[in-house]
Amino acid sequence: MAANYNNSAWFYDPLSRLVYGRELINAQLYLLQHIKPNSSILIVGGGTGWILDELTKLHPSGLRITYVEVAAGMMALSQKRNTGNNLVIYINDAIEHVNLSNDDFDVVITPFLFDNFTEQTLSTVFTHIHKLLKPGCLWLNADFQLTGKWWQQFLLKSMFVFFKVICGIEASKLPAIEVYFTQNGYKTIAEKAFFNDFIIAKVYTM
Ligand SMILES: C[S@@+](CC[C@H](N)C(=O)[O-])C[C@H]1O[C@@H](n2cnc3c(N)ncnc32)[C@H](O)[C@@H]1O
Repeated sequence: MAANYNNSAWFYDPLSRLVYGRELINAQLYLLQHIKPNSSILIVGGGTGWILDELTKLHPSGLRITYVEVAAGMMALSQKRNTGNNLVIYINDAIEHVNLSNDDFDVVITPFLFDNFTEQTLSTVFTHIHKLLKPGCLWLNADFQLTGKWWQQFLLKSMFVFFKVICGIEASKLPAIEVYFTQNGYKTIAEKAFFNDFIIAKVYTM
């Protein structure tokens, strides 16, 4: 079953702030520092789009952004964000259904996207995005990780149950995200952990 984050669009940000404070934001702000002026960027699963405001604070102009978000409610909120003089193309569809050219992007950002997926969907989506990237491109990824602390499993399980009921997400456990990067030849050039190691933000390149 495909996830439908429409149901959560109006409360997603307040709820995530309640549980994680600013740590989901901080992890993504850390990643955004690695973007050079005038980059061409693909953002997949940007949610309510606050990341566009933050990108625009760093780069008020010169960026070309392709913003792919499957939930219409999330996309409607994203389209109200301040994007300055950057060029933004909004695509309201699942990334795996979107045909983009593989010459287009310097950077791809996948913030808390993969935890929604079963291994099978992750494999499809990862391969689709991977084909869009050339050597030297950056892949900025933030997501949850389990480092052996009991409360991480507890929080993760609670999130899966909650978002399965509200949004119908298909995942019920964290897929092996790192394995896909390693198997496809990516190396980590920068990383930082947040929220007592439960959140990991990584900058990958090929
Ligand atoms: C867990 S939310 C994270 C939102 C945002 N990145 C944040 O950190 O606040 C995942 C987002 O990915 C979107 N999404 C899920 N599957 C997708 C797909 N296949 N293509 C594009 N967007 C997708 C959902 O609609 C949702 O907005």
